[in-house]
Amino acid sequence: MPHPPEPQQADPRARVKALATQAGHALHLCREGAMEEGLGEYRRLLNKPGALELPLALHTAMLADCGQSEAAQTLRRLSLIIGADLSINALRRPLASRDQTIQEYDRLFAENAINATMIHHYLMMLSAAGRVSDMAPLVDTALIESHDLTHEGGPVPPIDPAEVTAAIMNKVDETAWFERCQATRNCYHLDAVHKMADPAIATLMTAIAAHVERYRARPVSGAHPALSWRPKDISVGGWVDIFNKPGGYQGRHIHPRGWLIAVYYSAVPGEARAPGCDAGCLRIGQPAALGNTAAGWPDLTLAPKAGQLLLLPSYLTHWTVPTTGSGLRIAVVIDVEDRREEGVKSREEGIRK
Ligand SMILES: [Fe+2]
Repeated sequence: MPHPPEPQQADPRARVKALATQAGHALHLCREGAMEEGLGEYRRLLNKPGALELPLALHTAMLADCGQSEAAQTLRRLSLIIGADLSINALRRPLASRDQTIQEYDRLFAENAINATMIHHYLMMLSAAGRVSDMAPLVDTALIESHDLTHEGGPVPPIDPAEVTAAIMNKVDETAWFERCQATRNCYHLDAVHKMADPAIATLMTAIAAHVERYRARPVSGAHPALSWRPKDISVGGWVDIFNKPGGYQGRHIHPRGWLIAVYYSAVPGEARAPGCDAGCLRIGQPAALGNTAAGWPDLTLAPKAGQLLLLPSYLTHWTVPTTGSGLRIAVVIDVEDRREEGVKSREEGIRK
C-alpha cells in the first residue's frame, strides 16, 4: 500500500483527518505483519500536532484482537508517552456508562496503563458521578510542594533569582514573542531551558533535579492506585515563559505528557503578592469543561515569590491570572516525564510546548 500524503493542512480538523488516514495505514501494516514499518509510521505521526485526537485505544485493541500482541504493547507505550487516553469506554461515551468508564480506568491504572490525561479524565468522570471522596486522594493539596531555593542547604547552594533572571533576559529578543503558544498568551517564550549554557541555569537545574528525585522517593500512598504511578526512569526538559506586558496569562490546562511539573519563579511582579490583587497568581482548580460548580476539585490561588519552586502532579488543572504589565514575571517550567520507551520525542529532546 502506498504511503498516504503528509498532512499539510492548517485547519485542525483537516489535519486530524489526514493523521487518521496515516494511522489507518500504520494499523493496516501492523495487522498484515509488517510490524517494523507500521510501528515506524505510528512513531512518525504520534510526534505530530493533533495525534492526541486519534482513537489510539481502539487501534491498540484491534491489534491485540488480531493476535499482534507485541505491536499492541508497543502502540500502548507510545500512546502513553504522548499523553493519549487508552480508555475504550471514554471513546464510546455516551454508549458506555460513566461507571463502566470509571471501572475501565481503574483496571488500566492497575496495569500501569496510566498518564496525566487519563487521570485527568478519570477525575472528571468521578466528579460528574459525585464521587468526591474517591477524588480526594488525587487532588490532595499535600501533593503540591513549595520550596524556597534562596535558602537551600546540603549539596545544592542557594540560588539567587536575580542571577537566573539575568541569564534568561540575556537570551530574550523579539523573535521569542508569542501572542499564542498553546495555553499561553502574550508572553516571551524560550524553549529548551534545560540545555541553556549558563552557570546560574545549570545550578538551578541541579537544584530542581534534586527536588524531583526527592519527590519521586516520597512514600507511595495506599489511598489510590493512580498514586502508585512512579516512573522507574524519567526525562526532564522545559521552557521559560516571560510576562512583562498587560494581558499575559495561561488558560486552564494540564501537561498530558508529564508526571510532575516543576515551576521556578525567578521574577514576580509586586502585584502578585499585593493584598486584594491576584494578577499574576497561579490558580489550581477544576477543568474549564465543568464550569465552576463541580464538586471535589481544589480551589487554590498561589501568589508566587521570586526564588520559589513549586512541584505539582501534571494532571492537575492549572492556569494563571492575567498580568497587568506592572513588572516581570518569569516562570521556568520543567516537565518531568515517564521515560517509557525510545522512539517518540520527549520534552528533554526539545518538543515545543
Ligand atoms: Fe502549565
